Amino acid sequence: MRDRIKVNSKTEKPVAVVRSRVALQQQVRAWKAAGETVGFVPTMGALHAGHLSLVEKAKENASRTITSIFVNPAQFAPGEDFETYPRREEADLALLSGAGCDLVYLPTVAEMYPDGSVTDVRVNGMSDLLDGIYRPHFFYGVATVVARLFLHAQPDVAVFGEKDYQQLQVIRRMVRDLGFPIRIIGGETRRDADGLAQSSRNLYLSAEERRAAGAMFAALHRASVRLSQGALPSAVRAEAEAHLLRSGFRSVDYIALVDPDTLAALPDDAPMPAGIARLLGAAWLGRTRLIDNLSVTR
Ligand code: PAF
Repeated sequence: MRDRIKVNSKTEKPVAVVRSRVALQQQVRAWKAAGETVGFVPTMGALHAGHLSLVEKAKENASRTITSIFVNPAQFAPGEDFETYPRREEADLALLSGAGCDLVYLPTVAEMYPDGSVTDVRVNGMSDLLDGIYRPHFFYGVATVVARLFLHAQPDVAVFGEKDYQQLQVIRRMVRDLGFPIRIIGGETRRDADGLAQSSRNLYLSAEERRAAGAMFAALHRASVRLSQGALPSAVRAEAEAHLLRSGFRSVDYIALVDPDTLAALPDDAPMPAGIARLLGAAWLGRTRLIDNLSVTR
């Protein structure tokens, strides 16, 4: 049933590892036959405390937890960081053992995209906004791999970080549209002491860039306070962009105030309406693109 068990001498209970869809589905079937529920955390590895908090959330919402680690080629465009994306299998497995994850799914590319595979999932509209403007391939690659992972793992619950807020909303929409019987849960963003959202790509930052990176949270936080006080989104956006550029960011892709469910842009030249909105930002620090977001209430 399990095609390999990784043993890490530092942990008492090593996490089980499967690499094939068939082995994964055998285990999931056995659990479900025994009345267990399955929580699922899809990742691309290079795990940090943010990922482990998603595993924790999955454990709170299901009796068994599966984490997948798969660096998905379909969500990287040529010239992006697919080749250099951090891969740390041994360390990831040790962290997942320590977190009490029950099973890790480590599929190969051929397992996820069988030879000759031509079927994609496209969440139209929502995938083309915000990050989708700068990374047009990205959410199509994400929706395609997450749909495949859901079919492989057949979870009852799946947890995704709010750090990737647009991704979370795209997945919610896909699940709704396709009728996947899976409850999607958002996990709160984990932050370093200066507010920087934890991300595997933070590993790319030089020491100097890391010192500047906290400005992303500071700029968004300041903007969220101003918006909640009724400042015009157009003015607040200009201030946040200036803050980032002053702090050492190379360029800003966007700072945007949107509807938290549909991601539709809210009017720029009128104070934010009463209620809840989402403020998202993406900017370049050297060769690293950082994204972050905050909820705004007025
Ligand atoms: O957020 C990620 O790590 C990835 O986009 C995901 C959801 C695992 C799909 O490859």
